Amino acid sequence: MGTKENLLSLLEESKGSYVSGEKIAASLGISRAAIWKAIKSLREGGYDIDAVTNRGYRLSESSDILSVQGIESRLSDLCQGLRIEVFESTDSTNHICQEKAAAGEGEGYVAVTSEQTKGRGRRGRSFYSPPGTGLYMSILLEPSDYPGSAALDLTTMAAVAVCEAIESVSGKSCDIKWVNDVYIEGKKVCGILSEASYSVEDAGLSSVVVGIGLNLYRPDGGFPEEIRDVAGCIFDKRQGGAKSALAAEILNRFMAYYRHQIASHFEEYRRRSMLIGMDIDVNLPDGKRKAHVLGLSDNCSLLIRYEDGSEDSLSFGEVSVHPG
Ligand code: BTN
Repeated sequence: MGTKENLLSLLEESKGSYVSGEKIAASLGISRAAIWKAIKSLREGGYDIDAVTNRGYRLSESSDILSVQGIESRLSDLCQGLRIEVFESTDSTNHICQEKAAAGEGEGYVAVTSEQTKGRGRRGRSFYSPPGTGLYMSILLEPSDYPGSAALDLTTMAAVAVCEAIESVSGKSCDIKWVNDVYIEGKKVCGILSEASYSVEDAGLSSVVVGIGLNLYRPDGGFPEEIRDVAGCIFDKRQGGAKSALAAEILNRFMAYYRHQIASHFEEYRRRSMLIGMDIDVNLPDGKRKAHVLGLSDNCSLLIRYEDGSEDSLSFGEVSVHPG
């Protein structure tokens, strides 16, 4: 890390409080002139930093710029070994992770951004990812001790981790719409897309990219027509440090499940599932079919009963709440 990055880490650790020039000079082993140069460069990059004689420098609480330092300063020990890269803008963080994996990058690489130009959604759809109002991140995993069927587990684990992270940062409570959408007060605030590659030799998952997209704020002019009825956002107004705090909390919670620190996320998933007991439409290749949701199996498959009385267990697919 260079001087600018080290200084940012120090300011992030004491966000909202002043850090004296003396302390910065001593911790980083740099001159007053070098501090000033780095402060100037951070400000040019959009950071809101106060400088007050005899008190020092303070990163404003209201600053909400994603940074590696802002994320790393909030990570727990369970995230040791993660390699986080923040992009100002990128095509798709899932795509970045896949390219990195192809180039030899291993488990624990994390790509984070606040704008995607080709955000990918499920079923080949695009995922609306405008600049500044959202958080888009992907985690590259090589789950050697997970069976090939565990891709669903990673997705549901991510959904629970996202709910817990949003609740801890915003105080709002979240529900999960099977299989991997997170809702606040009936509006979708997060979508998750896990993309896996399988190894024939090992008969299991070779790598999985878990991609998470969150709407933090309402975009200027609102959401596009096609998602206006469904999409919602987490915050009503700008929150200082929210993007980095959410990214870090998601990683903290996800890694706790992934590294088995918390034995199972199933109970939490079930508790938050908004479809249990509801009538839904199951989207099948030949059209929609009405069904009643009986519950969830132990691995988060959706247990349903169709109108003709036949029962099924869905481990993937797309469903919507039946109108009326
Ligand atoms: C969906 O709701 O259809 C899933 C959306 C998943 C979006 C995230 S944003 C980060 C990652 N990169 C992508 O291109 N997609 C996922």
